[in-house]
Amino acid sequence: MGADDLRIWLNHFEYHAQNSRTVPSCLSDELTAEERRRISGSIATFQLGEQSGGGTLRAAAERFARSRGMPSLVRIVELFIREEERHAALLRIFMEDHGITLKRHDWTDGVFRIVRRLAGLELYLNVFICAELIGKVYYRALEAATGCQRLKVLCRVLVCEELAHVGFESQLLLTLRAGRPAPLRALMRLAHRAFFLGTAAVVWLTHRPVLRCAGYDASSFLRSCLAQYAFYLEPPAVAVAHTSV
Ligand SMILES: [Fe+2]
Ligand SMILES: [Fe+2]
Repeated sequence: MGADDLRIWLNHFEYHAQNSRTVPSCLSDELTAEERRRISGSIATFQLGEQSGGGTLRAAAERFARSRGMPSLVRIVELFIREEERHAALLRIFMEDHGITLKRHDWTDGVFRIVRRLAGLELYLNVFICAELIGKVYYRALEAATGCQRLKVLCRVLVCEELAHVGFESQLLLTLRAGRPAPLRALMRLAHRAFFLGTAAVVWLTHRPVLRCAGYDASSFLRSCLAQYAFYLEPPAVAVAHTSV
């Protein structure tokens, strides 16, 4: 990831900070009792996950940017954190409007937070991108599982922004990985894929009612998640051959 890439990402995040995507207030906003029962616990877990632990990420990005001479990375990460905070706020307001209880703790979120707190930027992003890739599949499923227009559009807004997040994270991670010796790279790839698959399996087990309603079974959900993983993190070699840090 060179200076030009960083400039493009900085422009992207600056633009969207000034021009936030919104959910129009004219949309119908009805949630049936059945839908509410089905999505409440699930959406609350994702709302908690969107509160991304910005302090840890900020500190890791500052250390990393200083050591690599990439000052614009700090600003990019700052804007990225603000988008995540906005996701959490959009979901919170929707939940409050529908009397859905917010979660303060969830064991899956707790595990992610502990790992990220221990990590430098690269490990943090390796963990975080798993949640983001699976989140993209989940929000699409949530959109399909509800008839509520407001929630559908909210899910589309989140997916749109997550697309850019995983684009940025994967480009940075692949660049860092490309600088490593081939055997270490292969080992890292295997370990990361296994972690990703384990995380996706936990998401299936803990969010089945929503995912089933969207038409998934365990195998199709894992396949969708792995397709996302392959698209962003296992691109043809040529795609990263000309990048540098
Ligand atoms: Fe998000
Ligand atoms: Fe994100």
